[in-house]
Amino acid sequence: MRRTHRVVVFPGDGIGPEIVDAALEVLQALEEAMGTFRLELEFHRAGAALYRETGEAILPEALEAFRRARCAFKGPVGLPDVRRPDGTEAGLLGGILRVGFDLYANVRPIALLPGVPGPLAGHAPGSIDYVIVRENTEGLYLARGLGLVTRQAAADTLLLTAAGCERISRFAFQSALSRPAGAPADGRRRVTLVEKSNVLRSFAFFRRIFLEVASEFPEVEADCLYVDAAAAALVSRPQGFHVIVTENLFGDILSDLGAATVGGLGLCAAANVGEEAACFEPIHGSAPAIAGKGLANPLSQIRAAALMLDHLGETHAAARLESAVRRACAAGRIPFTREGGVEGGPQAAAAAVKEALRAA
Ligand code: IPM
Ligand code: MN
Repeated sequence: MRRTHRVVVFPGDGIGPEIVDAALEVLQALEEAMGTFRLELEFHRAGAALYRETGEAILPEALEAFRRARCAFKGPVGLPDVRRPDGTEAGLLGGILRVGFDLYANVRPIALLPGVPGPLAGHAPGSIDYVIVRENTEGLYLARGLGLVTRQAAADTLLLTAAGCERISRFAFQSALSRPAGAPADGRRRVTLVEKSNVLRSFAFFRRIFLEVASEFPEVEADCLYVDAAAAALVSRPQGFHVIVTENLFGDILSDLGAATVGGLGLCAAANVGEEAACFEPIHGSAPAIAGKGLANPLSQIRAAALMLDHLGETHAAARLESAVRRACAAGRIPFTREGGVEGGPQAAAAAVKEALRAA
């Protein structure tokens, strides 16, 4: 008897449908190779194109399907020309899925793989291997669409709650304990809170709560680092990081920075996790400029599938998939372009990963 998992699929906008297709093709091959699990997929439209047609970024039946399945596999969404009258992008799903379903932890692994060209020449594969735990429901993005604007001024409020700081800190310490190894530099399990408590009271508040939670985890080192210094350290000494926990906007920015150090956003995936549901996606946007051109890199979406399998308890399948991605890269089977794309696009990359899966 195969274990069955229900998954709602949102193909998204721009390159979303083509990278989701590539990832589903790889998942299908994995399902056949393992014979232990089956994904029952239900497809729904969501995002900016849907918003342009209907005025809604997602329809009630799709929300209901996600509520029932409690698991979503999502492509990137958003189109730069689909905007609200206030100038912000319409059709994004952060407020609806992340906040609406209380998916409070946005988990973004950053790892330098063999065979992947990146700008940090001199760093050996394996020397960058950390995870960013981005608080996903509050911080500055709580203000999304609700800021105060007059002709002369505009304000968005950064709000942190004690409960929010506490649960994301605890999540980060638990992640540090469950990761297979410590920081590449010294093997230590370490959580680094990235903040700006030298200037902002909200971050002094976060820091106090973080340090309280840290005292419950004596086996994990707790560090605090200002966000500006953290940005520099992610480039100059990334091997010291193990788990980073931070506010929503900081996590958004630093995860793009971290991704760039390991070869680009096209390689990086995120798990949005809450108590009731979870959603798995690339960390990047929908790159409409390269959609349909056979250039998009689907590894972010394929690795999002690995994060999803892990969350569903299919840990062997998850490890086998992530290992296939790593071996395909190491063997030079993914023809990366200098712009961060892949020659031959999603199909070529998916074929290379499937071949590595078969060889496992
Ligand atoms: C991300 C993305 C989103 C965000 C955008 C598309 C709203 O950049 O997941 O990091 O800002 O959170
Ligand atoms: Mn982002």
